Amino acid sequence: MGPFKGRDIIDINDFSKEELLFILKLAKKFDPQYVRRKRSNYLLLRGKIAGLLFFEQSTRTEQSFRSAAQRVGMGIIGFNDPESTSIHKGESFSDTIRIMDSYADCLIIRHPESGAARQAADVAEIPVINAGDGPNQHPTQTLLDLYTILKEAAKLENITIALMGDLKYGRTVHALSIALSHFKVKQIFISHPSLKMPEEFIKILKERRVEYEEFDNLPARLKADFLYQTRVQKERFNNLKEYKRVKDQFILGKDFIKYLDKGLKLMHPLPRVNEIDPVLDAHPNAVYFKQARNGLYVREALLALILGRIK
Ligand code: CP
Repeated sequence: MGPFKGRDIIDINDFSKEELLFILKLAKKFDPQYVRRKRSNYLLLRGKIAGLLFFEQSTRTEQSFRSAAQRVGMGIIGFNDPESTSIHKGESFSDTIRIMDSYADCLIIRHPESGAARQAADVAEIPVINAGDGPNQHPTQTLLDLYTILKEAAKLENITIALMGDLKYGRTVHALSIALSHFKVKQIFISHPSLKMPEEFIKILKERRVEYEEFDNLPARLKADFLYQTRVQKERFNNLKEYKRVKDQFILGKDFIKYLDKGLKLMHPLPRVNEIDPVLDAHPNAVYFKQARNGLYVREALLALILGRIK
């Protein structure tokens, strides 16, 4: 297992199975469900500063990083509207990163373009966390998804997970599929034929001999432990007509309660638009709000690791 201190968190492929499990185990130490004694982590990273650079909109990722950083005692600088910065005057991406690099101890970046986080990490000397780069990766989401599965199923082996919706543009499903391929997990892909899991990810599953199935409709008898529902990513479509054609194929309404009653756990990275009816929210097996909360514990653990306060 490589050292975490100073490490960039850019791509879930950069982590071995052992490293993934190590992070998940550490996240438990920040999760009140597992910590017996109520204790504060406020002194853990006191004096350190997180630089949040959000070039694209976010609720969960930005706010949970803000919360996680403050829970471990960090100060926060940064922006979530690049137009309010000197980028508006023509300053380059790499100059912006160089400047923020000199003001913070780690950078957390979300950007609409694939590869932007890697580009930032190449410029910055301090560790960079990818908080989502276009349709490419969102590794901290993947870690919180794994953590949620582990917490809900009490294992990461011998389970079946169905991933549904926009499997073409959804960065969360790409990275989750790869991360799950380290474990004995059967994967079921459910999407419109035009939004299928891209071939590059299927190729990896084949190479790793992962059991998977593909459907273009929700099977009447879905045999899975989890269903990971996703939003059709309107912002990634070039053709709005095409988006409208496919956007409403997989809407989970009141009748989906029968699956939840049978024990299927429903996840979603959020935000949702209309793909899960709020009538399902109160069901104990609808775990998407718990999933979002789990992001706090994983992100607290990651900050402590990359800044060298926990080894
Ligand atoms: N899941 C997620 O990344 O949500 P936000 O876009 O609100 O950060």
